[in-house]
Amino acid sequence: MSNGWNQNFDPEIFLARHWQRKPLLIRSALENFHPPLDRHELAGLALEQGVESRIIEHRDGLWQLHHGPFSEQDFQRDFPWSLLVQAVDHHIPEVAALRQLFSFLPQWRMDDVMVSYAVDGGSVGPHYDNYDVFLLQGEGERLWKLGQFCDVTSTLLPHDELRILDTFECEQEYLLGPGDMLYVPPGVAHWGIAQGECTTFSVGFRAPRINDMVSRWVDQLLEQLDSDQFYSDAGQAPVTRPGEIRPRDLDRALAQLQAALDQDAGNHWFGELVTEPRYEPSWDNDDLAEARALLADGATFVELSPAAKLCWQQEPEGIAVFANGESLEFAQGVRPVLITLCDSWRLQGDTLSGVMLDPDSAALLNYLLESGCIYVE
Ligand code: SIN
Ligand code: CO
Repeated sequence: MSNGWNQNFDPEIFLARHWQRKPLLIRSALENFHPPLDRHELAGLALEQGVESRIIEHRDGLWQLHHGPFSEQDFQRDFPWSLLVQAVDHHIPEVAALRQLFSFLPQWRMDDVMVSYAVDGGSVGPHYDNYDVFLLQGEGERLWKLGQFCDVTSTLLPHDELRILDTFECEQEYLLGPGDMLYVPPGVAHWGIAQGECTTFSVGFRAPRINDMVSRWVDQLLEQLDSDQFYSDAGQAPVTRPGEIRPRDLDRALAQLQAALDQDAGNHWFGELVTEPRYEPSWDNDDLAEARALLADGATFVELSPAAKLCWQQEPEGIAVFANGESLEFAQGVRPVLITLCDSWRLQGDTLSGVMLDPDSAALLNYLLESGCIYVE
């Protein structure tokens, strides 16, 4: 593993010039880099049930997609192919540790870490993504080509599931070796072709769709609105064309709607949306009871589970905590615990015993345990 960024990367400059704007190549991005997972371990994960994996193969000019879990024979192919395994950070702590490199960005923006393996010439084809991605080269080399800016109007090849661009206008290309990293903002066409066998770690960032934000916000508002309030039109003049909806009727409706929208919908909908897990965590009731008992009796440590989607926000009266898509308000006193947990992912020893003596913080840890955000040892 690496112990952090090399000195040639400056988060402040990166955020000011590149983030969401333009690509950046960072040669030898990490100090003492060793890929946190090798291709055999990756292939092993793709054999497992409950791990999302895909193979993309380029065969006779056609792009083919196969879904995992796979068997060993699936890795014997005559055409260039690539294996992609989603959320590898949920399974391999060394891969989860890569996420700590990005502590200069809000944690709720981060998605899961995808890892790919490709044979010589293997690729997923020219495409664009709607999210920011840091492509860290693991083993071997990959030639990355960067192309035009794309959006919904860009033409894609006909395919039910794959979103491969019909045309790719190559503007730059870079050969990446182990430890090199390429940042690609949303919308920029990119195409990575393995030069010999290679692995690539993709740290993706999610941005909520405006559509989804509107829908969550409205849902929250609807929960608060009195369903016994109705459109009102007291004091109107007699109508002359009874079949008509007049502009004044519409204006009245819009004004009443605006008044309803102007009510405070609260803001938990946002944290709940951005912490929604891709894979629902599940607790066996006995395991949960055992974990609770261990926490109460003096655990050695609690740690953020690699799949945890956890964030918090300051409220006038306390702290709203968002854990795997749910939210709950806690007293102000839990703030230091949340800061430590989100920073170092762990509470142990005297710190943990001290935390458990405070009823609010103990309640917080129980809540995080129940929501699948932490585990106890
Ligand atoms: C890959 O690792 O082959 C593809 C990653 C990407 O283009 O986002
Ligand atoms: Co991509």
